[in-house]
Amino acid sequence: MALVNTKKMFEEAFKGGYAIGAFNINNMEIVQGIVDACKAKNTPVILQVSAGAMKYMRPAYLKHLVDAAVEETGLDIALHLDHGPDFETCKKAIDLGFTSVMIDGSHHPLEENIEITKKVVEYAHERNVTVEAELGRLAGVEDDVDVSEADAIYTDPDEALEFVQKTGVDSLAIAIGTSHGAYKFKGEAKLDFARLEKITEKLEAAGIHNYPIVLHGASAVDQKYVAMCNENGGNLGGAKGIPTEMLRKAASMAVCKINMDTDIRLAMTGSIRKVLNEKPEEFDPRKYLGLGRENVTDLVTGKIENVLGSYK
Ligand code: G3H
Ligand code: 13P
Ligand code: ZN
Repeated sequence: MALVNTKKMFEEAFKGGYAIGAFNINNMEIVQGIVDACKAKNTPVILQVSAGAMKYMRPAYLKHLVDAAVEETGLDIALHLDHGPDFETCKKAIDLGFTSVMIDGSHHPLEENIEITKKVVEYAHERNVTVEAELGRLAGVEDDVDVSEADAIYTDPDEALEFVQKTGVDSLAIAIGTSHGAYKFKGEAKLDFARLEKITEKLEAAGIHNYPIVLHGASAVDQKYVAMCNENGGNLGGAKGIPTEMLRKAASMAVCKINMDTDIRLAMTGSIRKVLNEKPEEFDPRKYLGLGRENVTDLVTGKIENVLGSYK
């Protein structure tokens, strides 16, 4: 068994009207928590790593941890670079054995985004690695870049077609109203599904069939874990995510990859807070990290059943 790229996963997801979960990993308990749920549901999964996470985990540890997950579960697992900021970071990930990378040139002008994406696609495809790019801007915070809500620019369908045609990129992350982090909407949650449909129509009309779209910033911000944080000394008032039914709808459309990081962070942090708050005498990390791992499994199981639909 070896890591796989996302090609076959997305082909099957598009045809089946479901999406693959892409979960951010930062340590062993998170990796195990995610794949335990995927193993029980027999579903493929994308484990994704930001540049910051790669630095935190250290490349060799992260690669071996993910290889261990493949060895133990026998599942189709892709190791994906999340929000690769430049060609060099993507190259580093590919050379380390990642099977999928994202080059995020969304903050550059269109022509520049096309150029940088093309360069990554060329290097990646020669090595059987799939590439995701992003067009449009998500409101909120992406790595170090602050994009104010007012500046948020949704993806233009004509530009999406031009971008895919010119770059040959394997999947495209679009902006339709989602954003990163735990505070996605002040008022009512809204996603621009008409825009998503239009993008697919444009691609289909140009002969690009079943093209996989990626949804970033797609945590539901589960109120159970927000409460668990707040009841145990946290301060996360007003945290709000994307309603589950909206994510399910996106998964039944062209969205083949749904990114979730905040939900994992909340489940992990809520669990740790709970153990330490309820048992101030506890100092065995296995107790609080262990509950975190269990709750990550529970959370991911719920995502597979209610959001992704990626099990047989
Ligand atoms: O979209 C970004 C992910 O949530 C990763 O965040 O750069 O803090 O690891 P990070
Ligand atoms: P959330 O902050 O909604 O979990 O989004 C994560 C993401 O898009 C990672 O790339
Ligand atoms: Zn993202």
